[in-house]
Amino acid sequence: MPALKVPKREAEPVKRKLKSLGIYDGKRRPRREGDFVLLPVVGDEMVRSLGYEVLPVELPLRPERQIYKNLESVLAEKLSEDELRHLRRYDIVGDIAVVQIPPELEHRVDDIVWGLRKVHPFIRVVAQKGFHEGKFRIRDYSIIWGEKRLETIHRENGVEIKVDLSRVFFNPRMKGERYRLAQLVRDGERVLVPFAGVLPYALVIARYRRVKITAVELNREAYELGLENIELNRKRLKGEIEFIHGDAFEVLPELPTYDRVISPTPRGIDALALTLSKAERWLHYYDFVGEAEIENFRRRIIEECSSQGKECEVRVKKVSDFKPHVFKVCADVVVR
Ligand SMILES: C[S@@+](CC[C@H](N)C(=O)[O-])C[C@H]1O[C@@H](n2cnc3c(N)ncnc32)[C@H](O)[C@@H]1O
Repeated sequence: MPALKVPKREAEPVKRKLKSLGIYDGKRRPRREGDFVLLPVVGDEMVRSLGYEVLPVELPLRPERQIYKNLESVLAEKLSEDELRHLRRYDIVGDIAVVQIPPELEHRVDDIVWGLRKVHPFIRVVAQKGFHEGKFRIRDYSIIWGEKRLETIHRENGVEIKVDLSRVFFNPRMKGERYRLAQLVRDGERVLVPFAGVLPYALVIARYRRVKITAVELNREAYELGLENIELNRKRLKGEIEFIHGDAFEVLPELPTYDRVISPTPRGIDALALTLSKAERWLHYYDFVGEAEIENFRRRIIEECSSQGKECEVRVKKVSDFKPHVFKVCADVVVR
């Protein structure tokens, strides 16, 4: 597949232009090479008229595109190639398919629902997602097919998680992250999870490790579902979970310190100083950071460590794409 070699500072406007001309290949990731960016384009004569070098490179598919492959091949018999290019990644939460339908595909909703039901015959609801809102980070949804509910039981990493998407935050894409953290934790640790939601991190860790976890959540509905989730999984859990309803900024100062703190921080909240102050050995701090800001973010954590009299090693890992050039990241902090 061809790619356009564009100087870094021109990448964003050129990308916008390619999109408006319908020749940007959004299924593939752009790649930075020194002072240039390789932008994925679809093979079209127009590409050559833009005045940039065109290279034959295999830019990798975006991961979210890969999970669409099955749906794409089912829908290939109904949608045109151009329409297929507008398909977005979707999620399966329990028996609910959560989709995003861009304006270019609004007339194809019935076909998309048909395709989803063919690929996932067990789904009972198809919901279109809006944006996360408010301090509880709850998304706005509209049900476009099936039963009129957003409550379901989601299975991941050997646990069952009851969620109600209309009342609580839940992100199935963090499954790999939860597994990664559960593998880092050792039996016997005391773990603190502020911003705990319906307890996905706590449940997965307690499923695999004999640990004592204290979790804190402010949204009463998430807290109550979390308590139900502890009962639902009681027989599977090796570890113990204590769940506190309250504001992390009020509750944490009253708590002792822990071996490990895991902070799935809500977007826009700065809980670094607070969570670090509770970590004796490890902190896993999630945040949203622009590509160019990652090094500053790492330095800010090291400075916070010094101001708390701690010596830390910090690694920042990109967890998922959030928007162009902005990532959800996890800072893995080891306190020496
Ligand atoms: C990004 S979500 C993460 C939820 C959960 N850990 C997960 O991964 O599904 C952040 C959570 O923090 C909760 N929250 C927001 N402000 C809070 C606060 N001041 N104290 C405790 N929890 C809070 C929200 O209700 C939400 O459930």
